[in-house]
Amino acid sequence: MRKNIVAGNWKMNNTLQEGLELAEELNGALEGKEINCDVVICTPYIHLAPVCATIDTDLIGVGAENCADHLSGAYTGEISAPMIASTGAQYVILGHSERRAYYGETNATLKTKTELALANDLTPIFCVGEVLEERENGTFFDVVKTQLEEALFGFSAEDFAKIVIAYEPVWAIGTGKTASPAQAQEIHAFIRKTIADKYGKEIADGISILYGGSCNASNAKELFANADVDGGLIGGAALKVETFMPIIEAFN
Ligand code: PGA
Repeated sequence: MRKNIVAGNWKMNNTLQEGLELAEELNGALEGKEINCDVVICTPYIHLAPVCATIDTDLIGVGAENCADHLSGAYTGEISAPMIASTGAQYVILGHSERRAYYGETNATLKTKTELALANDLTPIFCVGEVLEERENGTFFDVVKTQLEEALFGFSAEDFAKIVIAYEPVWAIGTGKTASPAQAQEIHAFIRKTIADKYGKEIADGISILYGGSCNASNAKELFANADVDGGLIGGAALKVETFMPIIEAFN
């Protein structure tokens, strides 16, 4: 059955030393604790190899925040899926709204990135979600459906089953505004139904759908208590062990 996952998204934060310190501190906090979800940290590229070498990767999964849309070659400044996998990382965030908004990533590009991630045994944490205007004018169901269809519904059921979905309403990211538990459940159930219509109930029931957007110690438990919310993708609150741990422990 599907996994509960709490994944941190460090974004563009932490020097190499700060990041290593944070990862080591988290590793120490998790050691010997009863934890009822998978814990993942998605870090800037520079942290991947040293973090994987330092922490217990059975305790904490490690992921990148993006990958290139090509396998190798003359793409100055890019980092490919095989390079990420070679660090020991197992995950990659794809389609984060900041990548879509600031770096022009389209569903077509994201389809290619997802293909490359899967071909290199990385688990994509694939982000979907609407902006405020789309929430307010009620088109958010269509927006999310289109993101899924255009980027992901070309995959075989076998490949699709390996993907983790993160629903992140753009209006809730870093704003301190959170989707209410009812809003989260409504759209998560819609996402699962959309997947079931395409791939069948068994596949849909096995997919982890995470919530992201100002998730923190005080709202995580209520959000995660919903039947279709299988954890969280955590930005700001993942930057300190004392704010990240209570979100992980929301599953206890
Ligand atoms: P936030 O970010 O928790 O800081 O809102 C979530 C995300 O962007 O993944």
